[in-house]
Amino acid sequence: MLPEIPTGRLVLRPVVPDDLPVVTRLIGEYDVAKMLSLVPHPYSLSDAKAWYGLNAAKVENGERAFAIDNGDGLIGVMSVGRPVDEPEFGYWLGKDYWGRGFATEAGRAALGWLFETTPATTIMSGALNENPASLKVLKKLGFGDEKPYLLPIRAHGEKLPGTRVRLHRDRFLSASGAW
Ligand SMILES: CC(C)(COP(=O)(O)OP(=O)(O)OC[C@H]1O[C@@H](n2cnc3c(N)ncnc32)[C@H](O)[C@@H]1OP(=O)(O)O)[C@@H](O)C(=O)NCCC(=O)NCCS
Repeated sequence: MLPEIPTGRLVLRPVVPDDLPVVTRLIGEYDVAKMLSLVPHPYSLSDAKAWYGLNAAKVENGERAFAIDNGDGLIGVMSVGRPVDEPEFGYWLGKDYWGRGFATEAGRAALGWLFETTPATTIMSGALNENPASLKVLKKLGFGDEKPYLLPIRAHGEKLPGTRVRLHRDRFLSASGAW
């Protein structure tokens, strides 16, 4: 179901079982996990296997989660959510890969794929207020309608203040131009 999408410097592709040790190592870093809602810390290979079991490309109602691959292998994951009315956009990159525009580049391609190939008209996302890099990525991709909310963060074991945002198909197309 999920295709391979070249983005310029990266390729989005289905996650495969051989990726799971790398997923475990990269998302196991506290600085990554502490920004994500559902990710336990510490993170084990069995956590990665459980996530993959629910979300492998062939699972019809799973997250549509792409591996972000830089040519040497998986460097992060980007999901356009489950196939429901308002799917949820989420992403993370291993710490060594931050600060090079990769999340924005991968996001344009993943959302372009979603709006091009499915009838979805909106997608939801959100980030902690202490995560300005992620809030900036969402803004660059065209997300808006900001609302405050409390985001449960499993690695902290508490809810923290965040900003909930929504992307409309039209706003994405005008924010990103051709993808
Ligand atoms: C959030 C994350 C995916 C961003 O990835 P990235 O590839 O570094 O993002 P990009 O380079 O595409 O864009 C980041 C933007 O935020 C800006 N930025 C980075 N740190 C910032 C900070 N502390 N304050 C303000 N802006 C910041 C960058 O300058 C860039 O904006 P620019 O293009 O205008 O220069 C990455 O940091 C990550 O994986 N973090 C841990 C997991 C996570 O937070 N996931 C998202 C959960 S909502």
